[in-house]
Parts: sequence; C-alpha cells; structure tokens
Amino acid sequence: MKNKIVITGGAGFIGSHLGDALLSNRYEVVAVDNLSMGKIENIKHNLVNPDFRFEKVDIRDIESLKKVCKDANIIVHLAAYKIPRYGNAVETLLVNGEGGVNVFKVAKEFNCKVVLASTSDVYGKSEESFFQEDGNLIMGPSYIPRWSYAVSKLFEEHLAYAYQDAYNIPVNIIRIFECYGPRYHLSWWGGPIPVFISAILSNKEVEIHNDGKQTRCFIYISDLVDGIISIIEKDKLSGEIFNLGTKEEISILDLVYLIKDLSGSVDMPKIKFVPYSSFSNKKYEDIKKRTPDITKAGNLLKFAPKMSLREGLLKTIDWQRGIIKKEE
Ligand SMILES: NC(=O)c1ccc[n+]([C@@H]2O[C@H](COP(=O)([O-])OP(=O)(O)OC[C@H]3O[C@@H](n4cnc5c(N)ncnc54)[C@H](O)[C@@H]3O)[C@@H](O)[C@H]2O)c1
Repeated sequence: MKNKIVITGGAGFIGSHLGDALLSNRYEVVAVDNLSMGKIENIKHNLVNPDFRFEKVDIRDIESLKKVCKDANIIVHLAAYKIPRYGNAVETLLVNGEGGVNVFKVAKEFNCKVVLASTSDVYGKSEESFFQEDGNLIMGPSYIPRWSYAVSKLFEEHLAYAYQDAYNIPVNIIRIFECYGPRYHLSWWGGPIPVFISAILSNKEVEIHNDGKQTRCFIYISDLVDGIISIIEKDKLSGEIFNLGTKEEISILDLVYLIKDLSGSVDMPKIKFVPYSSFSNKKYEDIKKRTPDITKAGNLLKFAPKMSLREGLLKTIDWQRGIIKKEE
C-alpha cells in the first residue's frame, strides 16, 4: 500500500509543489486547505489523479481534520497565516496556534509522523553570522506585531517536542529561509521577489523598505521540496530541526538590480525607499541579515540546493511574465 501523506496548506505555494513531487514519487496525497490564501489553480492538474484528493477544510476545525487524516502515515503541516506586516496579528496567532494544536492532537490519535513548517523568523534578532538550529532565538518586544508570527511558529515547535516526548509522535521541524518560484503569491505575502518583478516588468516604482541594505538568502522552490522529501523519506528520523535555505546572500537593493538585469529591462528601476515608520501600525522591526547554516541538513539529508539565484529568478520572471500576460 502507498504511504498516505496529508499536506495542510496543500493548495498554497509550497504545498502544491510538494504535492506534485510526492505524487511523482508514488505517494498518496491529501491536500487540505481552506483556500484563504491557496488556490485551486495551483492543484487543478492533480484533481484527476486517483492518488490525489483535495479537502476544503479549515485546520481550526478538528473534527473535519480528523476525518481527513484517518489512515495517514505523515502530516506535513504547512497551513499558516504569515507575518502581519500590515496588521492581523490575531489571525496569525489563532490560525497557527489553534491549527498547530489540532494537527498534533490528530497526529497523536492516528500515530502519524509530523513534518512542521517553521521559519527563519524564529531566529529573530540573533546576531550570529550563520544561524544554527541549536542557536538562541531572540524575539523583539510583544507590542511589535511582526514577532507574533515567529512566536506562533515557536509555540508550534515547542508543541512538536512536547508531543514527541509525551506521546512518542515522531516530529521533524523545517525552518524555511525565503522560498520563491512559480505559484508564489504576487503580493508581499510571497516575499519581496514577486513584488519587485511585477514592478520592474510594468515599469512601476519599486518600494524598498528602509535603505535596502538588509540581506537575505533565497531558496528556489524545487530545492526546498527536495529537502522536505528527504526528511519524509529518511527512516527513523525524529526530533530534528533543519534549516532549509541557501548561502547565496544578497542585499534587497542588489536584488532589485539583479531582477532588472535578468528581466531585460533597459530602464533603471524607479526606487522608492519606504521607512518602517510609514507602515500602517507604525510598529515594525526588520532583520538586518538572515543567513542559514545548512551543514546539518547537508550531513543528515544530503541537502544541497542546486539552483543559483540567477537561474531561479530567470524561471520565476518567465512564469510571472506569463501570469501578467494572461491578466491583460
Ligand atoms: N514561502 C516562504 O518563504 C516561507 C518561509 C518561511 C516559512 N514558511 C512557511 O511555510 C508554510 C507554507 O508557506 P507558503 O509560502 O506556501 O504560503 P501559502 O500562503 O502559499 O500557503 C499556506 C496555505 O495555508 C492555507 N491556510 C491558511 N490558513 C488555513 C487554515 N486555517 N486552514 C486550512 N488552510 C489554511 C492557505 O490557504 C494557503 O494555501 C507556512 O507555514 C509558512 O509559514 C514559508
């Protein structure tokens, strides 16, 4: 019998790509999503596949989640509400908090393994040059809403270990560092790349938060999915946290110029620097540098991202151009 994997957030960006890859690796996949941010469009090519099922379920509804997870071997828990950059910290805390509790209750009932999606944001204001999985996690003050996302993910991480220790539920945690590629959201929900590409392709103003000197490391979707699959397929792996990202560090300002070059635009980008103080709730803190140490994933999972930022951006720009054309 095939292994049955439930992906919460299965109609979202990462979840839909993971579903594609699992189906081609001969798994049975159930995509659970309330479609608040995910789209049927992302999974419609799989709807005719007998090994695939979509269930429109809110992870806060434990009875429905139970029905869907019955017989599952593994739950990959991706459903989440992200950084409340412009507000809605309540949704972030409740979806991630209540949803996380339900996922672990259900995993306990059916004895499923869980792979939990966490985030690089949990390293918070750590000043380490390379974040290691066992390093300190330094949060900012509670009145800054952005930290509610990291705190909600940390709550889920602690829940994972608590369930593992109390009930022997095998859990592994991935801390994702800025993933991009086709099917990501074209707003800030999808990170800075989609917003910059859209602005550059349509010759509009590119908004950069603060001075643009903050740096990030971006991972292409197929490399991230390879990392998640190696965790799923590794026997007896439990209780581990893995950074999944790349070491190719770039400043936000250089990212804009790189996208400009790769998109073939002849015009210089019109850059508008936006101070954090102009955000609607006037309370925002950013992270200056966020670079993962991926040695552990390399050693234990043979994780080795293959796609350079240039190559990944070229593919993504191509996809985004197609979307913009369709919308015209
Ligand atoms: N994309 C990244 O760079 C990144 C970075 C760090 C962490 N992550 C984490 O990875 C996971 C997937 O992120 P993504 O980029 O694919 O985001 P996404 O928004 O595309 O996917 C999340 C999915 O969860 C669904 N969802 C939200 N609330 C739900 C609910 N209450 N019930 C059922 N479904 C619900 C949404 O509809 C969406 O389809 C998230 O947990 C996110 O926090 C992503």
